[in-house]
Amino acid sequence: MELRTERKEDIETIRQLTNAAFKDMPFSNQTEAAIVDALRYHDALTISLVGVDGDNIVGHIAFSPVTINNLEDGWYGLGPVSVWPDRQKQGIGSALIREGLQKLKDLGAKGCVLLGDPNYYSRFGFECDPELKYTDAPAEYFQRLVFITPAPKGAVKYHSAFEQG
Ligand SMILES: CC(C)(COP(=O)(O)OP(=O)(O)OC[C@H]1O[C@@H](n2cnc3c(N)ncnc32)[C@H](O)[C@@H]1OP(=O)(O)O)[C@@H](O)C(=O)NCCC(=O)NCCS
Repeated sequence: MELRTERKEDIETIRQLTNAAFKDMPFSNQTEAAIVDALRYHDALTISLVGVDGDNIVGHIAFSPVTINNLEDGWYGLGPVSVWPDRQKQGIGSALIREGLQKLKDLGAKGCVLLGDPNYYSRFGFECDPELKYTDAPAEYFQRLVFITPAPKGAVKYHSAFEQG
């Protein structure tokens, strides 16, 4: 599988892939594809990577800037991340996450946050930090990975593109 930055001609497939991946997820309100579109529209899709197997896009991951205490200071949010249902559990999501995190580091990012299952994301080094808060979800699902210390304290906000629907 090749991992590369999205191209214009990938956009419709990314939309379909994102909708398919989140379709049956109980925690989802199926706004994820619209979020990716809105991030792109607002020039806030800092990193948008696709996994390509042969001629087919098999996965996608997005990263966008977040604020901490209303300041944008080198922190980013991971997600949405999507793999076609029939291609899940083959390492595609992990490869996208690892490559995306490396690209963030290369950009000089200080760290990354996400909302997701700690059982999955702890393998990439993500952990909960009671000092870093996101009020719209249960605390155990909000995790962070520090690239450059010190670890920040305060309230995290995602880009307004996440306020869909
Ligand atoms: C989450 C997702 C991107 C992971 O991609 P993937 O290619 O299936 O994952 P990988 O093959 O790299 O990793 C598989 C491992 O992750 C686990 N895993 C996958 N999704 C998980 C989830 N949502 N919660 C907990 N564990 C998960 C698998 O059980 C497997 O565990 P193992 O390695 O111990 O066997 C993919 O499953 C997906 O698109 N899911 C639907 C959309 C979604 O939930 N996105 C993330 C929102 S936070």
